[in-house]
Amino acid sequence: MCYVYMRIFSGIQPTNILHLGNYLGAIQNWVRLQETHEALYCIVDLHAITVRQKPEELAQNTRRVAELYLACGLDPERVTIFVQSHVREHTELAWILNTVTKMGELERMTQFKDKATQHSENINAGLFTYPVLMAADILLYGTEGVPVGDDQKQHVELARNIAERFNKWFGETLVIPKPLIQEEGARIMGLDDPTKKMSKSAPTPNNYIALTDDAETVRSKLKRAVTDSGTEIVSGATKPALTNLLTIYALLRNTTVKAAESHFEGKGYAAFKSELADTVVDFLMPLQERLKKIEANPKTIEKILKKGAKDAVKIAAATMEKVRERVGLLAI
Ligand code: TYM
Repeated sequence: MCYVYMRIFSGIQPTNILHLGNYLGAIQNWVRLQETHEALYCIVDLHAITVRQKPEELAQNTRRVAELYLACGLDPERVTIFVQSHVREHTELAWILNTVTKMGELERMTQFKDKATQHSENINAGLFTYPVLMAADILLYGTEGVPVGDDQKQHVELARNIAERFNKWFGETLVIPKPLIQEEGARIMGLDDPTKKMSKSAPTPNNYIALTDDAETVRSKLKRAVTDSGTEIVSGATKPALTNLLTIYALLRNTTVKAAESHFEGKGYAAFKSELADTVVDFLMPLQERLKKIEANPKTIEKILKKGAKDAVKIAAATMEKVRERVGLLAI
């Protein structure tokens, strides 16, 4: 039987250390999808610089995200792992797509509004056109599915609209992508405030569990995690904090929130938090062991990123050739 793999693409910004939200909302799904899909996973360093970065830290963080991809279980033999700035076609396509994107569409992006508030001293043009570069990332590879957390849905939908408009103006060229969002874990909330998503740019590290937090830090953050009123360990609309903690527990244990609720029936918050902390620690410790081994071999990561960029360029260059021709750019 001939099975045609669906191509998927996704990426993470190397802006800081990755957290459980990134893992449960995105990477855990990426690892599953690598079995059945043709996947490209990118480290989007050009997106990261829309917010000021320390140059000496950016390259290090970029390498660190690549290492974490492997430590989380992405297999470079199966998937293409690469750094966005190593494939120049991303910026070239982004420029062309800028000319088919409406100002109003970008003004409606909630991430832009949030970031513009957070970084009011540096509302740069790159921050505004960020979603166009993201559309270029996706559309360069003929991507059909984009596995992301819920917060990126609006951006993927914009990429669809841009691709549809491009095809309408210039003829069928770009594949129309779909967001692939899991039902559970699509939005992991902050431990200190369950009304806001877990985020690396949160004002306090008590908001998130970093994939590199040690056991003691994990336990202390979970002990302090906000809970809801009442005594039962149940999820629901009036229990945002418990719903979040139960979701984290269920996803790491490969079970459902319902089953987790039954497991904790009759038990109190202290027992729940302690078992949750054990679960997170049991997940993170082996991951960090793998990370240590990967870090000890910097040449391996370089080889993977070089090969990844080489493979990605092949697809990206072919798309750009078509796009240039469609737009009417002179070939010599
Ligand atoms: P970024 O770097 O903010 O996040 C990376 C991935 O993690 C998911 N995520 C979450 N999921 C659940 N709960 C959370 N609290 C949480 N926080 C983050 C995000 O949804 C994302 O899937 N613009 C993108 C990066 C990007 C990209 C792309 C993604 C650039 N080009 C092309 C897909 C395709 C971003 O800022 O993700």
